[in-house]
Amino acid sequence: MSLADPQEQAKQQAAIEAVRLIPDGAVVGLGTGSTAYYAILELGRRVREEGASFTGVPTSYSAEALARRNNIPLTSLRNVDRVDVAVDGADEIDPHLDLIKGYGGALTLEKMVDSYADCFVVIADESKLVDRLGHSAWVPLEVLPSAMYTVEKGIIRLGGTPRLRVGPGGPGHDGPIITEHENMLVDVRFEGIEDPWEMERSLNAIPGVVENGVFPRMAHIVLIGSAAGVRRLTHQ
Ligand code: A5P
Repeated sequence: MSLADPQEQAKQQAAIEAVRLIPDGAVVGLGTGSTAYYAILELGRRVREEGASFTGVPTSYSAEALARRNNIPLTSLRNVDRVDVAVDGADEIDPHLDLIKGYGGALTLEKMVDSYADCFVVIADESKLVDRLGHSAWVPLEVLPSAMYTVEKGIIRLGGTPRLRVGPGGPGHDGPIITEHENMLVDVRFEGIEDPWEMERSLNAIPGVVENGVFPRMAHIVLIGSAAGVRRLTHQ
């Protein structure tokens, strides 16, 4: 990751713009991924250089570790009555601001924190914009290990192609990726998702699915970084 890379610059600009929206003293949902990384760094910079104070609600161990290194005090959903703003990345964003998330495997906690926030700000570069969800991203599902095979059958009945997420050595070499909640991840290919709302409900209705990576109508603001600056998308 180099800041000479225009894509990294775009992600960083979107992240900095998002952190500008966050008032001093806010409870902030801390997203996961390479774009949310820049938001946590920027929150840390405001703490260090401006004396701002935030309380972070991390969506993963990696967000937690980065926030600790940046002196952002942390709490959890168990200990707060509200999250003022959540800032998180996305894998795909459609024109209705519906999202696919979860390539980092943190989708369950991300959905809990992001949907609970009074304001959920999505940050991304232009490569994440699509006409329809499922354009190229697979939908990640967190699945109870004992339900792996029955969930796969349920996915096929919905018209999807399931693929167990395994380590970088690939199937037959590496075992399954285990989430922070000790579950497995199944990525599902759909050839375009007509109705994200319905898809989210149908996937979660398969017994053994803990959560899925379709985030319909949850984002309030989307900030897209590019060489031309940061574009703000909101609901029409
Ligand atoms: C983490 O589980 C994901 O939901 C990420 O937010 C998403 O994959 C976007 O990540 P990048 O910002 O690294 O593209």
